[in-house]
Amino acid sequence: MKSIKTILFMMMAIVLLSSFAFAAGDAVKGKAFFNDTKAFAGTSACNYCHTNGKGLENAADKKEFKAMGKPRKGLEEMVNSCIANSSKGKAVDPKSEQMQNTIAYIKSLKVKAAAPAAPGY
Ligand code: HEC
Repeated sequence: MKSIKTILFMMMAIVLLSSFAFAAGDAVKGKAFFNDTKAFAGTSACNYCHTNGKGLENAADKKEFKAMGKPRKGLEEMVNSCIANSSKGKAVDPKSEQMQNTIAYIKSLKVKAAAPAAPGY
């Protein structure tokens, strides 16, 4: 009886973990993409202009962006605008793993920037 419960629990954990990993994207892989000049067949990596993600700390919270004088709806469109116009590369599918990982990395910048000082200090 106990082993059935254990197996069920493990199956649940695997299902939960894998769906979470997909939905959330992988910030570590996103960072690699961000730093890789050749990641999207462009001329410069994201990191060339946004060194260590600088200036993108608030991007994860924005719903609308403006780039090259045009509105961009959502982070995916903004990232693709930078890929196509700034990096001179090929836009990636907004639903692709590459895009989700890149967004996970941009979200991780927010967490770092927003880390509050511990109360009482
Ligand atoms: C050649 C320089 C350059 C490169 C390379 C570049 N960007 Fe940008 N990025 C900019 C500039 C400039 C802006 C400000 C918006 C504008 O005027 O286009 C910007 C804006 C952004 C924003 C919106 C920030 C905000 O808070 O409004 C995001 C997100 C972003 N870039 C992500 C990326 C990603 C991801 C890559 C790599 C795929 C990348 N950028 C490559 C220059 C660059």
